[in-house]
Amino acid sequence: MATAFIPPDYFRRYSVTEIFGNGQEYEVDLGCGDGGFLLAVAQQHPDRLYLGVERLLGRLRKVCSRGDRLGLQNVRALRAEGLYFLEWMVEPGSIRRLHYLFPDPWPKEKHHKKRLVQEETVPTLHRALAPGGELLFRTDHEEYYEWVCACVKSSALFEQTEWPDLEDYPDTDFQRQWESQGRSIHSARFISKA
Ligand SMILES: C[S@@+](CC[C@H](N)C(=O)[O-])C[C@H]1O[C@@H](n2cnc3c(N)ncnc32)[C@H](O)[C@@H]1O
Repeated sequence: MATAFIPPDYFRRYSVTEIFGNGQEYEVDLGCGDGGFLLAVAQQHPDRLYLGVERLLGRLRKVCSRGDRLGLQNVRALRAEGLYFLEWMVEPGSIRRLHYLFPDPWPKEKHHKKRLVQEETVPTLHRALAPGGELLFRTDHEEYYEWVCACVKSSALFEQTEWPDLEDYPDTDFQRQWESQGRSIHSARFISKA
């Protein structure tokens, strides 16, 4: 089966079976870029299902052609705006892990309203996740890190916890770039409360 998930209709929700052909829960790489992390983690865990969501067509095409070449059965990639996908296309409670890795931090104050995580959007993330599901966040941008932690904390819908297996977590393409420039990486793991 091809990696691309092309929904016939952007105005309805999709079950895990419709996206992958089987399964009960899946993981989402929100803003998957060229898919370095998505394809690596899918190879690491062939028993889990992964959906990459990316708004740029060129990047999505790369993910799909690499996924097809690797013959991965447990990966799909969707072209969509991340928040729209979570709000309108996901069946509530169907996502086990939401990977939110090196998102655009929109550093200028006048652009903060473009940030995907806001106090008002945290309930959307929570609704998409299964009870006990995880929001895994990594960034090189300290101020955005503090922003996301504060938004999530203010909702009381998640509990921030240790990330015990962080060592085994694949690097992303942007992470490699930032680390090669000596930037520090900030990581947070939040568990969705029932
Ligand atoms: C800085 S890159 C990080 C890519 C990848 N996660 C990594 O760490 O290598 C951010 C990616 O998120 C995508 N993106 C930004 N905002 C998005 C949104 N609202 N919905 C979907 N994708 C988005 C961008 O097109 C870009 O590919």
